[in-house]
Amino acid sequence: MEFSQLVHQRQSVKSYDSGKTITDAELKELFEDVILSPSSFNLQHWTFIAVRGPETKKKLKEAAWGQQQIEDSPVTLLVCGKLDAHEDAPEIYAEAPPAIREKMLPMIQKFYADQTQLVRDEAIRNASLAAMTLMYSAKARGWDTCPMIGFDPDAVAKILKITPNYIPVMMLVVGYQKDAPRPRSHRKPVSEVVRLESLQGAGLTAE
Ligand SMILES: Cc1cc2nc3c(=O)[nH]c(=O)nc-3n(C[C@H](O)[C@H](O)[C@H](O)COP(=O)(O)O)c2cc1C
Repeated sequence: MEFSQLVHQRQSVKSYDSGKTITDAELKELFEDVILSPSSFNLQHWTFIAVRGPETKKKLKEAAWGQQQIEDSPVTLLVCGKLDAHEDAPEIYAEAPPAIREKMLPMIQKFYADQTQLVRDEAIRNASLAAMTLMYSAKARGWDTCPMIGFDPDAVAKILKITPNYIPVMMLVVGYQKDAPRPRSHRKPVSEVVRLESLQGAGLTAE
């Protein structure tokens, strides 16, 4: 499918065929795309928890306003952002040319050191980019997705045994759509969301 067509066809889908499954091999192929997402300093601030067990999904659904797609879809993913991703820099840059490694490692440590708000922003920002890759890659494979923030993060962290160096960024379900797609929801026009040269500039119209 041509990329723009894929983008136009992706929607947040809430109704899934509960009889379908997604295998480890299929998930692995999906994540081979996801791990190519961009990230600040290539720190890859993301970890995904893939939940397929009915008992755990039931608990997640309860912690997520009873959202039925969690139970019906074959896989529910928790996208986690890693607050201490900068600690992985030595491993990530281990095979980089020495000149690059010696420049990047102190720069990264300085950038993130004692920056509580920044590390949180970065965890959310970078993990969200990976989540977007996931949604498009899933769509290209014939699956639909629904990103979700409607859940109790503390309850979810407890259910999935998240350690304090991670934060839940969003939940995502992946599966086979059951009902026909809904009409595309309202979008603000390009002329409103794109400003030329400054926020006060003209909206993009190309007229
Ligand atoms: C960060 C984020 C959180 C969302 N949380 C939920 C949610 O908890 N439940 C839900 O049904 N949809 C959720 N959505 C889906 C949005 O409602 C949906 O993306 C939006 O209405 C636009 O529709 P579309 O994705 O079909 O284009 C979420 C989307 C995003 C990006």
